[in-house]
Amino acid sequence: MKAILLSKFGEPEQLRIEEVALPKAGRGQVLIRIHAAGLNPVDYKIRNGSMRLMYKTRLPMIPGFDVAGTIEQAGKRSGFSPGDRVFAAIPSKGGGYAEFVATAEKYVCRIPEGLSMAGAAAVPLAALTAYQALRKTNSLKPGKQLLINGASGGVGSFAVQIAKAMGAVVTGVCSTPKLDLVRQLGADHVFDYTAGDFSRTGERFDTVFDAVAKSSFGRCRRILKKDGRFISTVPNHGLFWHMALNVFRSKKAGVILFRPSGTDLGAIAGMIGTGAVRPVIEQSFPLEQAAEAHRRLETEKVSGKLVLLTGAPDH
Ligand SMILES: NC(=O)c1ccc[n+]([C@@H]2O[C@H](COP(=O)([O-])OP(=O)(O)OC[C@H]3O[C@@H](n4cnc5c(N)ncnc54)[C@H](OP(=O)(O)O)[C@@H]3O)[C@@H](O)[C@H]2O)c1
Repeated sequence: MKAILLSKFGEPEQLRIEEVALPKAGRGQVLIRIHAAGLNPVDYKIRNGSMRLMYKTRLPMIPGFDVAGTIEQAGKRSGFSPGDRVFAAIPSKGGGYAEFVATAEKYVCRIPEGLSMAGAAAVPLAALTAYQALRKTNSLKPGKQLLINGASGGVGSFAVQIAKAMGAVVTGVCSTPKLDLVRQLGADHVFDYTAGDFSRTGERFDTVFDAVAKSSFGRCRRILKKDGRFISTVPNHGLFWHMALNVFRSKKAGVILFRPSGTDLGAIAGMIGTGAVRPVIEQSFPLEQAAEAHRRLETEKVSGKLVLLTGAPDH
């Protein structure tokens, strides 16, 4: 099969299309024919080597954690059959930038009706991160007041929609050109971070979700209500320090580390099925243009998501 192989850490040019062996599905796994693969910032952080310790990355590897496609092969007792349209976030070994991947059935979920393969590939990791962060902060409840920083990005765009679907009052923070997008996603209020500091408005929130990890608990503490929660997507020493002090404070700091889960993806699929949540795709690229897609990804300016297409037809 064709796959994008990373053989050396470095610039996007290190992503090269190669012919590699077809993966084999083991016990409890399914083989997926990939139609589309979603990109996430962690992909370029792995590519440039900055995550090599955390992910214990072994080269050569096939990057990519988000896939959408059809079941090619499933075991006798599997809940899936060949031809089923599925999507999944796969664990840290990656393998998504390819024509096929074998992964554990427990990570896989059926694609809701009406969602394209590209749309489905844009969902798993970012939407799971948003959903799990909101659950962890007890924010999946009506009437909660939430501020989402980075509301126009992959994680943020899902966080706005999931929070709204749950009945929250949402303020989305983004730059001027993205204000309309964030309003369209359902945010009740938008804040332009190029025009001021959202932590100085005097408003108070139950949860501040720093989806893009550009702020800090230190800055956001003052806009949290009593018992309010701050959660970020990227851990650092400062955040760990504040987390260690959580037991002494009513306002808590936290971090989300997403976990692949077919069950949680099912909950998100339900929201997509009702029309409450939709993926935003800035651009799709053919698989062989993975390097170009990475160049865009690492600008940190993407609206929603980027997707790679393998060329397999979407029935
Ligand atoms: N821990 C985990 O499990 C986990 C999971 C997923 C992601 N992450 C991490 O979370 C971060 C965000 O991921 P993502 O997929 O949402 O990234 P992304 O889609 O690449 O984020 C791009 C968005 O960030 C916005 N942005 C850039 N600088 C900003 C700033 N200073 N303030 C507010 N918004 C800003 C941009 O909007 P503007 O053009 O308006 O600036 C753009 O729309 C990444 O660092 C990623 O590695 C962690």
